Amino acid sequence: MSLPPLSSRAQKTPASPIRRLAGLAQQAEDRGTKVYRLNIGQPDLHSPAEFLEGVASYREAVVAYETSQGNKSLVDAWCDSLNRDYNIGVGEPQMLVTMGASEALIFTFMVCCDPGDEILIFDPTYANYIGFSAISGVRLVPLPCSIEQNFSIPSRAEIERFISPYTRAILVCNPNNPTGTVSTDKELQMLLDVCRERDLYFIVDETYREFVYDGRTPRTIFQLAGKDPRVVVVDSLSKRYSLCGARIGCMITWNEEVRRAAFHIAQARLAAPTIEQHAAAHMISTIGPDYIAQAHEEYRRRRDVAVEALREIPGVIVSSPEGGFYLLAKLPIPDAEDFAQFMLTDFSFEGATTFVAPAAGFYMHRESGQSTIRIAFVLKELDTRKAIRVLAEGLKAYMARGARS
Ligand SMILES: Cc1ncc(COP(=O)(O)O)c(C=O)c1O
Repeated sequence: MSLPPLSSRAQKTPASPIRRLAGLAQQAEDRGTKVYRLNIGQPDLHSPAEFLEGVASYREAVVAYETSQGNKSLVDAWCDSLNRDYNIGVGEPQMLVTMGASEALIFTFMVCCDPGDEILIFDPTYANYIGFSAISGVRLVPLPCSIEQNFSIPSRAEIERFISPYTRAILVCNPNNPTGTVSTDKELQMLLDVCRERDLYFIVDETYREFVYDGRTPRTIFQLAGKDPRVVVVDSLSKRYSLCGARIGCMITWNEEVRRAAFHIAQARLAAPTIEQHAAAHMISTIGPDYIAQAHEEYRRRRDVAVEALREIPGVIVSSPEGGFYLLAKLPIPDAEDFAQFMLTDFSFEGATTFVAPAAGFYMHRESGQSTIRIAFVLKELDTRKAIRVLAEGLKAYMARGARS
């Protein structure tokens, strides 16, 4: 019996490079091997007690749909906290609550672009942008960035070379996943100027906004752009508050048309989760600054441990992450995916192995990332240290036996 084919959209949507090897990790655990998971940005810090109190305080007899825009108390509390921290004068008319930054990105792609339109991104990139582009029919146009330049934004002339009649937006992730790079105000201003002059949207993914290290101050693009209606920010509670499973994010823009069109899509998907929004509203209105300050300090320490330990491995080139939870490391081998699999299927050291994400899936020019892995520094210092020790031993064993056929 023949069946109708899948849509070309479905065929173009790649498996997440972060989750693809998860089955092998599970099998290693089933064999009794301890698996250090440096492959995914799933923080292990406890979610705030204020969020869990918020969940417990939900008292309605029916878990009804929330409004499509989002829980009003959450929108008010989130805007207040942004205004307190960044003095940007944001309010309810600019914000739409979404199921994580992921949904905010899908809405933004769908609202700002028609199928076939282009968005400029910096390569390597957050891999799920590739999935979102397949879903929305948008073409991502990658501008290559290199580990040798610590993945900084290319020059204005280089960027302008990639703009075509189909370009609708520039998308920057700041701080960046997977590179850990933090864009300077000068770079962001340059991108904003290009967007203004070439009439493009400027989409900024601020999922990791607070996590900037070495004396940098967290910034939102609105501090530079003011109420410029070409700017769309996507934001999330997932990483900031260790709340990945709550699925709460938002889209912020002063562009009324964009906001209204996104709202219409939001109406079609009805609403984001009710209890989580209730809890998030309670959390944001009651939590003090200590939670983020401590999380920041913890990630900064883990970054230092990870970078230092990786730099001790002969032949490994490590990026210098200035923010976020991730770094890229170039290994002295041709195929990092084969190595990542080897770590899960054929290797253990003192009963443990390390799960890393092959970085090729974060590159649109896949060949540029062939030797590179992405590491999420989301484990406690001691575990990070052990995980990288195991990685170093694995690399030695892998190189000694040669790549598998
Ligand atoms: C850069 C970036 N944007 C968006 C997301 C999606 O976050 P959320 O959990 O809010 O959907 C992630 C998650 O890892 C991310 O790293």
